[in-house]
Amino acid sequence: MIRTRLDDPQATADNPGMAWMQRKLAERGISPEAVAAPLADTPEPIPALEAAQVRIPYDYREAQVGHPDVARWVRTIADNAVAPAASSLLPHHGRAGQREITHGHSLLLWGPTGAGKTHEAYGAIRALTAAGCGVRWEATTAADLYGAMRARGGLDPEYLLRRIARIPLLLLDDLGAAKSSEWNEEITFRLLNWRSERRLPTLITSNLAPMRTKDMAPHQPVLRDKVGDRVLSRLSGMCTAVHLDGPDRRFRAA
Ligand SMILES: Nc1ncnc2c1ncn2[C@@H]1O[C@H](COP(=O)(O)OP(=O)(O)O)[C@@H](O)[C@H]1O
Ligand SMILES: [Mg+2]
Repeated sequence: MIRTRLDDPQATADNPGMAWMQRKLAERGISPEAVAAPLADTPEPIPALEAAQVRIPYDYREAQVGHPDVARWVRTIADNAVAPAASSLLPHHGRAGQREITHGHSLLLWGPTGAGKTHEAYGAIRALTAAGCGVRWEATTAADLYGAMRARGGLDPEYLLRRIARIPLLLLDDLGAAKSSEWNEEITFRLLNWRSERRLPTLITSNLAPMRTKDMAPHQPVLRDKVGDRVLSRLSGMCTAVHLDGPDRRFRAA
């Protein structure tokens, strides 16, 4: 590629177009050096990321993915994104426009309180948005979802469940933290069963280990006890489990 710099008199001497441009700049009092100078290095705002930021809780607005398995998941989901109205059978068809995330496996981020599970999850949502993918996402804790579905005078619970089940990317935070009941188990099963059959990517976090292992204290609760076998079976089919460990970051911050 041949570059002609506006501030290079030799390069512009034989070029009528460049000479005209120089004259116009001079008329407006703009020096050619100013035009040729590199742009100031201010970060370019990404509108989709800025829009997503507003919905992200304050604590996680700067969250970055730190775990390699989560970074790999972000890449896979971004690679699976297709143009609007394209199907997974015809991924190269569809309308022109921003690619939208479609399908992919899910992640179960588990580990002790304060290890950074919610931080990683929001980091992943931010990374997908920054990668230029159209991401329709929603986040709820499992307890808030059960609460919203139980609320009297609120939305029809069946409508709410259908709506949340269809969200292209869902963050279901703190699974297993709510008091277990048959009703909670049924809701969780129906939600995850729907999403697993359609391969809708879901980020699930839990303070509990998925299953009991030999080296665990006998009284230590595990996710299987809290959510039941049917839910655990769906989770193991649809998720890659990522263990996040370490001291509680909230205490460190305090
Ligand atoms: N990698 C990180 N860098 C900076 N702050 C972090 C990081 N991971 C977590 N935090 C902060 O530590 C606190 C606890 O993290 P959080 O993700 O809420 O933990 P968990 O969901 O595992 O209980 C939050 O205030 C969060 O913003
Ligand atoms: Mg959390």
